[in-house]
Amino acid sequence: MKTTKLLRRRRDRCGALALLAALTLIPGTAMSQLRPLVPLMLDNLGDVNRIGEAVALDDLEQVAISVQALKQRAVGMRQLDLATLDLDPEQDALWDGFLQAQEAAADVVLAAAEKKDGRAVMAATRRLVGNACLGCHASFRDPGNMLRPSVLFMTSLLSAWRDMNRGLSMKDFNLIDLRARDVSALTEVIAGDEILENAFRLGGSKQRRIFRGFLRRVSENAALISQAADAEDLPAVLDASNAMWTDGCISCHEKFRR
Ligand code: HEC
Ligand code: HEC
Repeated sequence: MKTTKLLRRRRDRCGALALLAALTLIPGTAMSQLRPLVPLMLDNLGDVNRIGEAVALDDLEQVAISVQALKQRAVGMRQLDLATLDLDPEQDALWDGFLQAQEAAADVVLAAAEKKDGRAVMAATRRLVGNACLGCHASFRDPGNMLRPSVLFMTSLLSAWRDMNRGLSMKDFNLIDLRARDVSALTEVIAGDEILENAFRLGGSKQRRIFRGFLRRVSENAALISQAADAEDLPAVLDASNAMWTDGCISCHEKFRR
């Protein structure tokens, strides 16, 4: 993970600064508390998006970087033990087949990028997504559950969370403040009756009350993060973001994630 690497490099440079050592723990721990495939999948999605952006900007070098990441991730995913992912180990060959498709399709994208042919890059990327990503999702994920609205909201929260950690590692207080405000705004949207009912399928008023309680812990800590960032108070940012993660994100997941 890029953030972790960056932090590690910083820590080497800064010696045994306890604060930075603590910082390196946040993104790693955070990621390990998601279901194991999820961080890999969000990175997959990020790489596919970056390829699209890079073609638009005519940056074929970035295409090559992202597509190589997609290929390496597929190679790594073939080593995973399906049983530990709650998937059927009997379907190992099918699993590997989709990952081989991802690798082969990545080579085609790469060849197109080397020829600096943006159109061919896009066509090959669409095939990669169709054959490998969506193919595997259709087999291993409930197709009806593909990109549920609830997951989209959560992906936005996660992306804000990652940026805040990036901000912490670079002492970019503006970025921290900006993304903490995004988190507040997002929790407000999520807490509305309509989203709770339609996206999160929470019918009962008791369930909603508990759910909103966790959202409040997230937004209260987001406000503290904002304040601390304004004051450029790094330890206070760190405290509030730890509290946000444990009392808000993780506590709610323990109770509500199926
Ligand atoms: C070999 C199988 C496989 C391949 C290939 C694969 N995925 Fe996935 N993907 C999964 C599974 C299984 C899940 C559900 C994980 C879970 O919910 O724990 C998933 C979930 C996701 C999610 C949703 C995360 C969430 O929290 O629900 C996204 C986004 C995603 N994949 C993107 C991609 C993209 C983009 C590609 C292709 C570049 C891809 N995936 C390739 C198996 C695969
Ligand atoms: C009020 C409850 C609640 C809070 C607070 C909350 N989440 Fe979630 N989150 C959920 C639910 C419910 C799901 C499962 C959605 C689904 O699968 O339909 C989920 C799923 C996710 C997922 C999708 C992958 C997975 O492992 O299921 C990510 C990523 C995520 N949340 C990140 C975050 C982050 C980061 C925060 C804190 C900034 C956060 N969430 C705060 C309720 C919450």
